[in-house]
Amino acid sequence: MNVKKAAAAIACAAALSLVAAGAMAEENEAKGRELISALGCKGCHQFDGSGGKLGPNLDEVGQRLDEEALRKVITDPKSVNPGTMMPAYDHLKSEEIDALVEFLSNQ
Ligand code: HEC
Repeated sequence: MNVKKAAAAIACAAALSLVAAGAMAEENEAKGRELISALGCKGCHQFDGSGGKLGPNLDEVGQRLDEEALRKVITDPKSVNPGTMMPAYDHLKSEEIDALVEFLSNQ
C-alpha cells in the first residue's frame, strides 16, 4: 500500500468510527427517553411538558448537574439528601444508568 492509500484508509477508518460514535450517542438518547417513561421517573418529575411535582423539573437538569452528580442522584439519592423521597435506581444495568446519565446531561 502506498502512502496516499494508507492515509486514505486511515481517514476512512476515522470517519467510520465517528459515525459509529454518533450512532451510539443517538441510541443512548432514545434509550434514555424510553427509560424515563418505563421507570416511572415522571411519577415525580416534570419532563417534556408532563409529570409529577414531587421532584425538580428535569427539563434542564443537564445545566445544573454534571454526569457525576447525575449518576450519584440516580444510583444513590440518599447520599445527596438522606431524607429524599427519590428511590435508588441501583438495580439498573450499567448500560441503562449510562444511557440515563448521558440523556439527562444533554438536557
Ligand atoms: C418517588 C418520587 C421520585 C421518583 C419516582 C424519581 N425521583 Fe428523582 N427526585 C425525587 C425528588 C423528591 C428529588 C429531589 C431531591 C431531594 O429529595 O433532595 C429528586 C431528584 C432528582 C434529580 C436531581 C435533580 C436536581 O435538579 O437536583 C434527578 C436527576 C432525578 N431525581 C432523576 C430521576 C430519574 C432519572 C428518575 C427515574 C429513573 C427519578 N428521578 C425518579 C423524586 C423522585
